[in-house]
Amino acid sequence: MAAARGEFSSRFGFVMAAAGSAVGLGNIWGFPTQAASNGGAAFLLVYLVLAFTLAYPVLMAELIIGRFAHSNAVNALRRISPTPASGRVGVSVGVVGIVVASLILSFYAIVAGWMIAFGLSSGANLLGMNALADWLTSFSLSGNLLFMGIFMLMTIGIISAGVGGGIERWSARLMPLLLITLVSLVAYVLTLEGAMDGLKVYLLPDFERALSPKLIIAALGSAFFSLSLGVGTMLIYGSYISDRENLTALGGLVTLVDISIAVTAGFLVLPAMYAALASGVQIFTEGGALISEDTLIFTVLPELFSTMGLAGLIVSITFFFLMSIAALTSSISMLEVPVAFAIEEYGLARKKAVFIIGGLIAVASAVILLNFDTLFGLVVTVTTRYAQPLLGLCFCIFAGWLWRRDAILQELKKGNPEVAQGVFWKIWPWYIRFVCPVIIAAIFVQSLWG
Ligand code: PHE
Repeated sequence: MAAARGEFSSRFGFVMAAAGSAVGLGNIWGFPTQAASNGGAAFLLVYLVLAFTLAYPVLMAELIIGRFAHSNAVNALRRISPTPASGRVGVSVGVVGIVVASLILSFYAIVAGWMIAFGLSSGANLLGMNALADWLTSFSLSGNLLFMGIFMLMTIGIISAGVGGGIERWSARLMPLLLITLVSLVAYVLTLEGAMDGLKVYLLPDFERALSPKLIIAALGSAFFSLSLGVGTMLIYGSYISDRENLTALGGLVTLVDISIAVTAGFLVLPAMYAALASGVQIFTEGGALISEDTLIFTVLPELFSTMGLAGLIVSITFFFLMSIAALTSSISMLEVPVAFAIEEYGLARKKAVFIIGGLIAVASAVILLNFDTLFGLVVTVTTRYAQPLLGLCFCIFAGWLWRRDAILQELKKGNPEVAQGVFWKIWPWYIRFVCPVIIAAIFVQSLWG
């Protein structure tokens, strides 16, 4: 028999956990680098508009379905389906979501391992252990395997403690720490020479670029990945919210926190890049494009830190510590997706489920590491560019077309009796039915041909 279901004990706990899931490498690494290479403030503007108009409605669909069913995605989608046939489609969507969440974790753990290794490397430098420091940043196979494994063990440790004692407790500790670290780093970087140039790029929009299809697609994908949508993560977190809570307000708050942290991270990364430029680090190619867009954090930033002497080492440790925390509060939300399914559908004990599934995902990460050149990019692209938008589209169809509208309203009324009179209920049902699916389909088609 499965144990009683966990529940978040407080509103704060849920917001920290869901915001912890949303805020991750996508916000602190993905968003600012994309902003830097897509017209700065123009990208910021488009991102803000899309996050509120597209990502928030899909987030709400996942939260409402999850809380209604108080169950994993597979069972939840089956339950809201009107016919046995659509129920089978629901089960398939849920299962694909579980596989995709696990695959995302398998590459995420590798990147998170680099963050830990880079942080430790600066620590080793500080202690004068230069050979160790060099090895830590060499991306060697043994190092990659080791730090991926350490990161997976931390994720497994937290998830094995369950919803209240693991997810909620650790998110509530780590998220405030992340905020403090982020704000202190921003304050420091803004004092560096050259930082103001970065600030200008970030805040003065180049409107010609704001309207380019490439930028809009990039901003959409970024918003979607950033809010952890499509793979059932938010659905399962929604399923742990108490019936007394006001879902529309909670979803809005999570969106707000996620976006604010991405925007704040822009105040760190763009000024840091231009500070690096001012201290002689090359950040643009001859053609004016950003060099090493994806690996920016591992190339440009360490070079900047190394021009700053002792202070640079401390800033570097703090920065990579920040990245590791952000990654951890996201990775736990990914692992919870298959774990909740195994517990609820197969009656496995939590600890057993966590160790088996976490172990399998670590093996998948090791396979990716052993075949890095062929697999890494492939898994990232398939999961984030194709699977996430397509699954998001399915959630819109379930919430907008298949689930009975009065059941949705009943669910929303639980923590918010006046919801039927509010703006949300006037716009959202129609919006999730037509606007979201069309836009997501458009991104998908674009990314196939673009
Ligand atoms: N939102 C996370 C980030 O920004 C990534 C993520 C995707 C988390 C899917 C959970 C599920 O890094």
